[in-house]
Amino acid sequence: TILGILASGRGSNMQAICNSIDAGLLHAKVGLVISDKANAKVLDHAAAKGIPAICIERKNFHSKQEFEAAMAQQLTLYHVNLVILAGFMRILSADFVNLFSGSIMNIHPSLLPAFPGLDAHEQAIAYGAKVSGCTIHFVDEGMDTGPIIMQQAVSILAGDTVETLSERILAVEHELYPQAIRLYCEQRLCIEGRNVKII
Ligand code: GRF
Repeated sequence: TILGILASGRGSNMQAICNSIDAGLLHAKVGLVISDKANAKVLDHAAAKGIPAICIERKNFHSKQEFEAAMAQQLTLYHVNLVILAGFMRILSADFVNLFSGSIMNIHPSLLPAFPGLDAHEQAIAYGAKVSGCTIHFVDEGMDTGPIIMQQAVSILAGDTVETLSERILAVEHELYPQAIRLYCEQRLCIEGRNVKII
């Protein structure tokens, strides 16, 4: 399986996925990393690993459609068959989602459907939740709404801040994302409506 990673920032999940591949735990290849932010650290990490890394910025296109078409063109050029969103801070249109139907995953730092969107950690703490966690799901045209693949809970402790909670959730993200990708690569994920069956 050739992975195309879309990311806007730090790229720690991208690195966790690469580490898992390097350790022989995940039989996949990162074919391409695309960032919509020119100064994103993820581009440096990818380049350091010799992975093709390109920046495609929304502002250089007249429409969202053209911007996404440019990304799709590159993903196709690099023969990507699984698109991995790892801190990609944009909603993809139905057209893009349909182009890679059932082959786009996202990670979100809460137990969806609780606390979707931006600032998930802050939302969970502000709500007074005692448990949050992370979710890996297939992407549809909504925001953090597609069929759930895996989830893991993380306790919210008294005195937790966004920083302390996100650090603990991030450690779980780094474990879970390679596992979910592995299941996909082994063709063990079966989407049945909203339900993802692991076979
Ligand atoms: C992660 O917390 C992920 O759940 C969220 O954005 C963050 C990306 O972090 N969607 P990184 O760029 O992978 O370090």
